[in-house]
Amino acid sequence: MNIQFDEKNLLADVVGTRDGLTRAEVERAQSKALRALKSFRKQSEQGLYGFPHLPFQEAVIRSAMRHAEEVRGSYDTICVVGIGGSALGVWAIDCGIRGPHPVQGAFTPEHPRIVILDNVDPSFTAQALASMDPRKTLVVVIAKSGGTAETVATFLIVREWLEKSLGRRKAAGRITAVTTEGKGDLFALAQAERYRVFGIPENVGGRFSVLTPVGLVPAALAGINIRKLARGAARMTHFCWQPDLDENIALKAALYHWLLWTRKAKPIQVAFPYSNHLWGTAFWFRQLWAESLGKAHDRFGKEVHVGQTPVAALGTTDQHSQVQLYIEGPADKVFTFWAVKRFGDAGKVPSARTGQAAFDALAGQSLAKLIDAERRATEAALAEAGRPNCTVTLDRVDEEHLGAFFQMMEFQTAFLGELLDINAFDQPGVELGKLFTYGLMGRKGYEKYVRQFRAYERKRARAK
Ligand code: PA5
Repeated sequence: MNIQFDEKNLLADVVGTRDGLTRAEVERAQSKALRALKSFRKQSEQGLYGFPHLPFQEAVIRSAMRHAEEVRGSYDTICVVGIGGSALGVWAIDCGIRGPHPVQGAFTPEHPRIVILDNVDPSFTAQALASMDPRKTLVVVIAKSGGTAETVATFLIVREWLEKSLGRRKAAGRITAVTTEGKGDLFALAQAERYRVFGIPENVGGRFSVLTPVGLVPAALAGINIRKLARGAARMTHFCWQPDLDENIALKAALYHWLLWTRKAKPIQVAFPYSNHLWGTAFWFRQLWAESLGKAHDRFGKEVHVGQTPVAALGTTDQHSQVQLYIEGPADKVFTFWAVKRFGDAGKVPSARTGQAAFDALAGQSLAKLIDAERRATEAALAEAGRPNCTVTLDRVDEEHLGAFFQMMEFQTAFLGELLDINAFDQPGVELGKLFTYGLMGRKGYEKYVRQFRAYERKRARAK
């Protein structure tokens, strides 16, 4: 496993003093980073936060693999019903290892597809159901809370769709629930209907749960080597506990981002993978960074309104749609390129000459060389414009590197939360919208929120 972090283009010597950091500034802040590491380690050892321990939970890995073995061959589709942290990790793994959906190979029982029903767009749901055969579909319903409106509604539709074709008893045998054990409405329903249940540890929040059964069960069902995912994550965990910035790239990256946020006013972070396989991970990262770090109050209750808005851009595609803004627009962004060293041998441009300069310049070269040159060129162009950027390089996108990358990003987020003195593991800002939704859908006990919503509507009506 080989993942590198290159911070050179964040330095004042490269991008100038207005937007870049000096080595002296970084060195002065090192002790703060080490305190953040110590404090997070203590909380993790006390069991407050569970994600650092996940790669070592052999029993969970084994039971997900055993389940996949038991049902193998009986399905060609895995239908995942979940949203947010209960969906994005599955997409990141599937996209990373098997490729973005439009270019995955033909789907067979040996190579099942994963259909993720996260949104409640009625036409999307109907089309997805029409594209699946209920006799060849396994359903994995995922909700840590067990009561998320989108997941519950979609699941009821999918359950009825299965039951109509297979009957109640057989349908129940094709449903697996991933939820908090012993708690919540999904767990109760799963018990009543005898679904297979996998637990999500209480001390692991949705966006940190990709290496729990939330990500592992669908991945194992799709034939992905989850042991290797965990192995990569375990190796990275070892580095993430090192009190040395040269070894601990998650801590180093967190420190640089903290300095850029506090000293250089960079409220936007662009995650810029140069790999279609990492596109799903960019969306997983968006949730991790946004929900964890966007907070109104610090740990002492002081109003702070911190956080960096994460943006996902795909290289090279978005060079042709976003880079104009990135180079010449407001100097409010820091860019993190995600580079891949080895793409394999595919993508050789034929060497036959056409006599046309633009074509002949590329003849005989490889797409891997081109995508690498395009990324380095964009990094340089940004740096020359004084736009700070850094690069995380993965040797290749396989299970070990992806597992390690997830873990690195989760540690980096946790460390940055410590540096900012906020709770990176809650999400109070999403509550009111959920409560309004329950009220609007007529759920008992939510009348107070309907009244608040009506008052808001009256305010809108009065607005001139
Ligand atoms: O990170 C989080 O905790 C949230 O974004 C959740 O993942 C999301 O709201 C889905 O929650 P649940 O798994 O309870 O359906």
